[in-house]
Amino acid sequence: MGIENLFRFKEGKTTFVFVGGKGGVGKTSISAATAIWLAKHDRKTLIVSTDPAHSLSDSFETYIGPDPKLIMSNLYAVEIDPEVAMARQQEELKNKKSVVDPQQAMGLDLLEDQLDLASSAPGADEAAAFEIFLQVMTTNEYDIVVFDTAPTGHTLRFLSFPDLMESWVGKMLKVKSKLSTVKSTFKSLIPFSDDDDDNEQLELEETKRKIEEARKVMSDPEQTTFKMVVIPEEMSIYESERGIESLKKYNMNVDSVIINQVMPDIDDCDFCQSRYKIQQKHIGLINQKFHDQTILQIPLFKEEIKGMNKLEELGQVLYENKSVNQVEKDAILL
Ligand SMILES: Nc1ncnc2c1ncn2[C@@H]1O[C@H](COP(=O)(O)OP(=O)(O)OP(=O)(O)O)[C@@H](O)[C@H]1O
Ligand SMILES: [Mg+2]
Ligand SMILES: [Zn+2]
Repeated sequence: MGIENLFRFKEGKTTFVFVGGKGGVGKTSISAATAIWLAKHDRKTLIVSTDPAHSLSDSFETYIGPDPKLIMSNLYAVEIDPEVAMARQQEELKNKKSVVDPQQAMGLDLLEDQLDLASSAPGADEAAAFEIFLQVMTTNEYDIVVFDTAPTGHTLRFLSFPDLMESWVGKMLKVKSKLSTVKSTFKSLIPFSDDDDDNEQLELEETKRKIEEARKVMSDPEQTTFKMVVIPEEMSIYESERGIESLKKYNMNVDSVIINQVMPDIDDCDFCQSRYKIQQKHIGLINQKFHDQTILQIPLFKEEIKGMNKLEELGQVLYENKSVNQVEKDAILL
């Protein structure tokens, strides 16, 4: 299969790949391997993670940090720390608090709106990931962006983010318009400065417009796809099945299922043979449940998959159909 069959590219636009699945199934390793493979195929690639455990840094065996960093030719990586993002967000919220003065708010249920506003403010990690999404979507500075997503629940929270954000911005706008009524009523009494307000209003409108665009990009199968990682175990299969159902509700297109950690058929070991048989049964279930998806397989490696070389091998196994042995032989010949 060529790169065009595996990934979407749209002239002049960035495309997005989300890698998701249950905890521990190999999302980070597969995201990292995918990003390296794309970079090696001359695509300007960004990989994004919001895992506070810094698993992406561990996987690449290099410190990444909160701003996109070049880690090899064509490959940039960013690791958002939700705590840092949270601090930044709270700073911004503090500034926004001045929007409504409780005294002005009296009798106009503005206070209630503001409380509502504060409690519905989006979570910091999703907010930070979404900010990167918006930024990249606007600049189109990468060919492709790979999101190493958190386990399924968080991913769904991220995908519901445009809705959340939209209702939040909507509320902000509502509060502001009520406030401007107050202001015009008391204009002669209280000297308000209108300039900042107008700017803020424009910013909010602009944010709203961008969110709408993001929603379009995320639900366009030409621009955004989701790769579901699953291991041949019942829990993982059922969680992924539910995940795919939920993704459909957000109009997100799942274009492949990647079965990871598949045991080899070793017939001189009872233990391995027994594990192999159970897995094969589950692989049958996966093929049946996800028959309308492209299904790829990755064998269980002997060692942990860490560092650029191992990740590159993983990419070749995954996207070039090479066996682990073949990849290792190639590596020796080089
Ligand atoms: N095919 C494989 N063969 C051997 N080891 C693997 C394979 N895939 C993943 N691993 C190992 O399994 C562990 C978990 O993988 P990884 O961190 O990629 O999972 P994850 O889905 O990102 O986990 P989390 O949900 O915690 O973010 C890592 O130590 C990784 O090296
Ligand atoms: Mg991970
Ligand atoms: Zn064995």
